[in-house]
Amino acid sequence: MAKAVRAEPEPELEVPVPVRGPERGPIKLRVNGEKHELWVEPRRTLLDALRDDLGLTGAKKGCDEGTCGTCTVLLDGKPIYACLRLAIECEGHEITTIEGLAQGGELHPVQRAFIEEDALQCGFCTPGQILSVKALLDENPNPTEEDVRRAVSGNLCRCGAYPHIVRAALRAAKGLAERPGR
Ligand code: FES
Ligand code: FES
Repeated sequence: MAKAVRAEPEPELEVPVPVRGPERGPIKLRVNGEKHELWVEPRRTLLDALRDDLGLTGAKKGCDEGTCGTCTVLLDGKPIYACLRLAIECEGHEITTIEGLAQGGELHPVQRAFIEEDALQCGFCTPGQILSVKALLDENPNPTEEDVRRAVSGNLCRCGAYPHIVRAALRAAKGLAERPGR
């Protein structure tokens, strides 16, 4: 099976010391600007905490072993595989999921560009692709096609929508650059 590989290394986090568990305990997560208190086992992945405890199902569980990218969320603005992180590792950090992108009923420009460029077929990989593109544009507002391809290299699209995904990213970059105040 094809394997997605991120071009950039994911951020390292310190595991809280002393190590907790194995029984359930309280943890605090900050997701899309909101604070949440959960009662979870230390082995609970961030992906399961988001999907099953917080009901944020935009991040998808594809492989559950770090090879597809459908679970991509942002940790302090950087894309990570939520299936490979423990929820407790993420205490004290800001998590952004696809549910946090639209503001005031308005889609984020990257979301809009994906629709306008028809950058999806089944849509299963789409939340992760959009978050990887958002992270890229936050860091590099004027990316090349090559930059976009590197940014989504950790997100597998089985439908082969990559040409449209690249066009959507470049379109979003242009739209953001033309926004007043930038
Ligand atoms: S679910 Fe496939 S990388 Fe996380
Ligand atoms: S749109 Fe189907 S996997 Fe990407």
